[in-house]
Amino acid sequence: MNDTLNLLKSHRSSRSYTDQPVTDQMLDEIIQAAWRGPTSMNAQEISLVVVRDAVRRARIAELAGGQPWIAQAPVFITLVIDFNKTRLGVEKTGQQQVIHESMEGFGVAAVDAGITLANLMMAARALGLGIVPIGGIRRNPQAMIELLELPPLTFPLVGLCIGHIATNAPQKPRMDINTFRHDERYDASRYPTAIDAYDTTIMEYWNQLGRSDGLTWSQNLGNSLKVVYFPEVRPAAASQGLTNDK
Ligand SMILES: Cc1cc2nc3c(=O)[nH]c(=O)nc-3n(C[C@H](O)[C@H](O)[C@H](O)COP(=O)(O)O)c2cc1C
Repeated sequence: MNDTLNLLKSHRSSRSYTDQPVTDQMLDEIIQAAWRGPTSMNAQEISLVVVRDAVRRARIAELAGGQPWIAQAPVFITLVIDFNKTRLGVEKTGQQQVIHESMEGFGVAAVDAGITLANLMMAARALGLGIVPIGGIRRNPQAMIELLELPPLTFPLVGLCIGHIATNAPQKPRMDINTFRHDERYDASRYPTAIDAYDTTIMEYWNQLGRSDGLTWSQNLGNSLKVVYFPEVRPAAASQGLTNDK
């Protein structure tokens, strides 16, 4: 089997890190790999803020709702939507940028950030490091904006912990692949059976880990998706000029 495919198929999030540092050379390799990724319109509207300082990582761990692995892993990268950068190009031509006020702009930036995140994760794992993406930074985006000194037209969308793995977690099972892949046309008729089976499988996974607090997939989503779990995103984005009203 191909090494790249093996790496993709062996993905897992790691939440247990040693204090061994990630070398400058490793970090440079990881960032260069992600920097080569594609962006819509070649806008290159994603910027990374690398935080290695332990006190600042501890602060981010707290802002993300108490996630100790952010303080533990030696590197934390925030992926920033950066329409401040694109604005400079637009204004150089005497035009005024409006894309940052639109759903299209936010959506495109989220896709490009997702590609960047995936490439960062792959590159780090290719070097034998562990990773876990952190959406929890959107719990308090304004505090992240202040901590990272982000200017108007920027927004901290997602973060990533990178470090040497202390304990390797088993892979988390997925729902049947037929709920992921649809051929020719979408077919939801297979979902209820697959969800029932997955709810059982995920409980077996929690039991295997000795996690008595584990919930089924359905219970977990029932708790989290019945509310807008990060309600500060919209007002914080709007106050940065990302109004999402076009
Ligand atoms: C965009 C994104 C945000 C995430 N945010 C968090 C987070 O804040 N904290 C955390 O511990 N895991 C976070 N995760 C990791 C998911 O919980 C994890 O990917 C999922 O449970 C599947 O487990 P696996 O990655 O080990 O296969 C995030 C994942 C993604 C893709």
